[in-house]
Amino acid sequence: MDRSIKIAPSILAADFANFGAEIQAIEAQGCDWVHVDVMDGHFVPNITFGPETCKAIRPHIKTVMDVHLMIAPTDLYLKAFADAGADYISIHAEAGPHLHRSLQYIRDLGCKAGVALNPSTPASAIEYVLDLIDMVVVMTVNPGFGGQKFIHSQIEKVVQIRKMIGDRNINIEIDGGITPQTGPLMAAAGANILVAGSAVFKGGSVENPAPYGENIRAIRDASEAAR
Ligand code: DX5
Ligand code: ZN
Repeated sequence: MDRSIKIAPSILAADFANFGAEIQAIEAQGCDWVHVDVMDGHFVPNITFGPETCKAIRPHIKTVMDVHLMIAPTDLYLKAFADAGADYISIHAEAGPHLHRSLQYIRDLGCKAGVALNPSTPASAIEYVLDLIDMVVVMTVNPGFGGQKFIHSQIEKVVQIRKMIGDRNINIEIDGGITPQTGPLMAAAGANILVAGSAVFKGGSVENPAPYGENIRAIRDASEAAR
């Protein structure tokens, strides 16, 4: 599979009143995927938006709609996010007792399935679902907020996961605190999808989108060089 570095800006750091134009701007500036953070105020201590917003922004996304569900329970809502047009749906291993069933359900709905792991969750949590997933999301911050500090202990977890997946077609996505300094650490450890919120959107805007492109290139170039 294609393991080149892909940059997935998180629209958590975009202007919430202007998602359509923000998405068009980051795609025009060269991002690979669009990362969509859904928070429920229960699984994580913050609330963003739900499937209706995902559906509304879907037509603006020409690349890949990567939906990260930080919600519990998950199963009740999976169909709504699939209907909203998600390409990838990632759920947290910690969000419920039936991860295996939920992942099967995501694939049955026609989406790619991802498992996200909180910083305290070991790599072994995915051992018995490897044949049901298209992506592992290693959280390098505690989920809930953008702009937090990268947790270095997760580098070792990515090395372990890269070994576990072997030649399976499974992406390793990193989420939280990714910058041109931390991206390379994760690329070297085996990650191929880098989510970045604040580090992509800083300094730019819909009216002045060039900094988005510079930020995306800085993370990508440093990370590719580290492989
Ligand atoms: C955190 C979210 C992340 C977040 C990343 O709960 O899942 O996607 O937006 O933001 P930065 O890159 O600012 O850490
Ligand atoms: Zn996320």
